[in-house]
Amino acid sequence: MRKTENGQKIEFLKWRNSVYFIKILFLGTETVLRTKTCGELRLSDQGEKITICGWVDSARDHSGVFFVNVRDRYGKVQTVFYSTMGADQFELVKTLRNEDVVQITGEVVPRPEGLVNPKMPTGEIEIKAEELVVLNRSEVVPFIPSAPEVPSEEMRLKYRFLDLRRPDMQRVLTLRHRITKEIRDFFDEKDFVDVETPILGKSTPEGARDYLVPSRVSQGSFYALPQSPQLYKQLLMIAGYDRYFQIAHCFRDEDLRADRQPEFTQMDVEMSFIEMNDIMELISDLVVRLMKNVKGLDLSLPIPQMTYDEAMERFGHDAPDLRFGMELKNITDIAKTVDFKVFRNVADNGGSVRGINVKDSADKFSRKDIDGLTAWAGEQFGAKGIVWFKVDAAGVLTGSSAKNFSADSLVEIGKRLEAEPNDLLLFSSDTYLTTCRVLNGLRRKLAAQLKLIDPNEMNFCWIIKFPMFDWDEEEKRWVAMHHPFTAPLKEDLQYLESDPARVRAQAYDLVLNGFELGGGTIRIHDSETQNRVFSLLGMSREEAKVQFGFLLDALQFGAPPHGGIAFGLDRLVMLFSGMDNIRDCIAFPKTAKASDLMTGAPAPVVEKQLKELALKLDLKENSDEK
Ligand code: AMO
Repeated sequence: MRKTENGQKIEFLKWRNSVYFIKILFLGTETVLRTKTCGELRLSDQGEKITICGWVDSARDHSGVFFVNVRDRYGKVQTVFYSTMGADQFELVKTLRNEDVVQITGEVVPRPEGLVNPKMPTGEIEIKAEELVVLNRSEVVPFIPSAPEVPSEEMRLKYRFLDLRRPDMQRVLTLRHRITKEIRDFFDEKDFVDVETPILGKSTPEGARDYLVPSRVSQGSFYALPQSPQLYKQLLMIAGYDRYFQIAHCFRDEDLRADRQPEFTQMDVEMSFIEMNDIMELISDLVVRLMKNVKGLDLSLPIPQMTYDEAMERFGHDAPDLRFGMELKNITDIAKTVDFKVFRNVADNGGSVRGINVKDSADKFSRKDIDGLTAWAGEQFGAKGIVWFKVDAAGVLTGSSAKNFSADSLVEIGKRLEAEPNDLLLFSSDTYLTTCRVLNGLRRKLAAQLKLIDPNEMNFCWIIKFPMFDWDEEEKRWVAMHHPFTAPLKEDLQYLESDPARVRAQAYDLVLNGFELGGGTIRIHDSETQNRVFSLLGMSREEAKVQFGFLLDALQFGAPPHGGIAFGLDRLVMLFSGMDNIRDCIAFPKTAKASDLMTGAPAPVVEKQLKELALKLDLKENSDEK
């Protein structure tokens, strides 16, 4: 062997590897540092001599006897050190601090009577320690991972490696693994092929803003990180891979919320030679499997379906939360007959007057509370006001606005909202979409406040028959509600040019507990329809060619009928784990300002890097604010 500067190191590695090899030969695949994990020990292990490794969860001195709880990903176990074990070792144990990494060898013994801890799965035993090795010391930690109080989110994200030691986080990440594995097994059993698609792609005008990556080789040109693998999966269909799936990383530079991250994961699916129902049935089967194998619950099929129009009319949202009532009631027709201007003007001018009935709650809301709700709805959704009534013991609608209505109108309104004594009625009077936003917002807020939701319920529903296009009032043009490759419903194709608002899409969303879990569409697979849609969206053939030329080309080379769907994996984990934020379901998430508090990303780069990319910065003040 040629001697190098590192010769000694190589020799050492060879020697160490042979030792491991010999150990593996004798011990099988078991690792050599530990023989058991902390969480697995039970009474049935008593008498056994074992070695565990883990983090010091707590260490306490009970009049000369030391109790050290040791924790790993599998749980926690109590070890006991007696002064009889030898002075050196006993002195060492006294130096232990939270989060030191230790190896402890000892005998599993039953805990003395009266000292069993039923709250710990290992609570019937303890380890009578014989040997302690401190594998590594920890500095004083900024927070103790096993403490019951949850640290501030800033601390958690800054010291994410400590936060991920918290049992709650370990539970969620393990659940995420289980869900991903079930998804992979499901699609594998059904003959799907997992294909990876590029991360460095081309910027195309889709929903959100792209994250751009400057090219060094082609200066002045940029890659875009994928918002989804949409175009690639369609190309895979054209390439003949009729059943594709991928657990795909996606990137969208958009305003963040509790259920949105700039970098998130989709379970992405595409199929050829199928129709809407085939995809919805397949995904329903997947949901049944996830519910059974992950949550241990039986979900009966079919999953209910609701049209987009019905969802907006009854719940004011296309991802309705069906776990409670408080449905929206339309009183625009009654509003046209009253003198009260707030209702009458809106109703006469094509707007909408709708309300919700907060059952048996009039006595729970003071005037000040209602003013608070009104201000909130104004800030959040631009509500100009909320008109309210309380129903008195005789069933009569009362409140400051009541004097503006005739007794008959009040009776009619009460009837429409199925009013009973002590109900609180709240109304929004505005454009149809604003009443949707305001009442959906109030409905969800009040349901949470009044604890109307069973936290264990898992309520799925398909939303179908979405409009194809939205009218963008600012830009005065039609925009695709999903993406421009979505196929119209066959029966609506005839209205594409004459009445675009009437055209509905072959689109379907799966909703769980009021969150859009996933959505998909059947795609246009002929270039003629595709071109008609592009021209409606105000995109000339030339522009379309520049943006999506590769797809348009491919559509001319034997494209099969195809369609697909994508689920937000992080959202799925959030809802299956009972968390209320997707940041808690991602190992290393970003803050609401899209920064990573642990690594400091995004961060400035050195001048040389900018030069290589031929980039010059033109920074505005506060641009480094995170
Ligand atoms: P869509 O844009 O509806 O469809 O996305 C599919 C699902 O992805 C999840 N999702 C997100 N999750 C976390 N953070 C985000 N910023 C975020 N944005 C979206 C949602 C959503 O339902 N290519 C199409 C699918 C298709 O037609 O096949 C698409 O991406 O749960």
